[in-house]
Amino acid sequence: MRPGSHAILRPTTPVPAYEACVLPQMTNVLEIEQLKTYIRQRHTVVQAVDGVSLTIAEGETLGLVGESGCGKTMTGMSIMKLLPPGGHIAGGHVRLAGRDLVPLGERDMRHVRGNEVAVIFQDPMTSLNPTMSVGSQIAEGVRIHKGASRAQARARALEVLKLVGMPRPEERIDYFPHQLSGGLRQRVVIAMALACEPKLVIADEPTTALDVTIQAQILDLITELKERLRMAVLLITHDLGVIAGRADRVMVMYAGKIVESASTLELFADRHHPYTEALLASIPRLDQVQTETLYSIPGLPPDLAHPPTWCRFQPRCRFATQICRDSEPELGGGDPAHPFACFNPVGPVGASAPVAAAT
Ligand SMILES: Nc1ncnc2c1ncn2[C@@H]1O[C@H](COP(=O)(O)OP(=O)(O)O)[C@@H](O)[C@H]1O
Ligand code: SF4
Ligand SMILES: [Mg+2]
Repeated sequence: MRPGSHAILRPTTPVPAYEACVLPQMTNVLEIEQLKTYIRQRHTVVQAVDGVSLTIAEGETLGLVGESGCGKTMTGMSIMKLLPPGGHIAGGHVRLAGRDLVPLGERDMRHVRGNEVAVIFQDPMTSLNPTMSVGSQIAEGVRIHKGASRAQARARALEVLKLVGMPRPEERIDYFPHQLSGGLRQRVVIAMALACEPKLVIADEPTTALDVTIQAQILDLITELKERLRMAVLLITHDLGVIAGRADRVMVMYAGKIVESASTLELFADRHHPYTEALLASIPRLDQVQTETLYSIPGLPPDLAHPPTWCRFQPRCRFATQICRDSEPELGGGDPAHPFACFNPVGPVGASAPVAAAT
């Protein structure tokens, strides 16, 4: 056999049945390490994402939750490198299937977007071109990224429209976006996102603009497709209720930082950060009387152009003590599977909890 031949990589004997049956390893599709994304403005710099690290494995959904303005969208858009004017990655790494996207130029990123990573935005009309039929829009990405012929790309468009449960897809493939309801338009956006079989789908508040009944259908569809296609999903939302039952793990973001992270089941049962507790208290309950006002967290997040050097949640926190006014808690705690950034955590957290005793 010639040196360097591809055949050298192949096993010479068949893999024994018991080895072939071993459960697949969970490989990380996305690894973000200490990401800092800043937005330069005329007189200030907004530190929108300030040292975020996260991973998402193949077939996993990670929920990224927090109030409006805490940096969720900027985290997602940093992966796509689609930032607003003045926006730039000031530090860290964004590895997709092991390749760091941060040093890549616009030309390489154009191949990544829509092909390896796709985004589903809140409002389908921001992703759809009103002057093109939905079929042509789905087919366009397939032609660009996969080099498919017109006929092949149209066949793929029809296939993904069927996959997302579009009723009468043979007819609707030639519809324009305005001829479809909001829910069906979002199905088209999901079909567009899936057409090139991306490794990662970023769903940024994918149902916020839709009716409540349609919201559940779309979220269930994303979950079902993720399981069938083994994609990694970053589900961004301000509503912890959306995450329940759909994300495997949750990261809670506040003022540009991750403040708590755990499996979804654990976070709902046993949260430690007072901010997570407040977010959970603001989820509407089924047994809630309609006239009851929903709990909302008092106060406002800090200005990210001038972030404080003490706990960012302190002015709004009912557990704050002197140490919270003097220094900023790090993400830590005794359990690496459930870190939190708080000096006075909620609930029992074991002997190795951070510096609460120092207060
Ligand atoms: N186009 C923009 N220009 C300037 N600042 C922005 C822009 N978009 C977002 N920001 C700022 O970046 C921070 C994070 O915003 P964002 O990621 O959109 O929050 P979220 O998605 O959690 O609501 C906020 O302080 C916001 O004001
Ligand atoms: S560190 Fe202090 S102020 Fe910050 S969340 Fe914890 S208890 Fe509240
Ligand atoms: Mg957002």
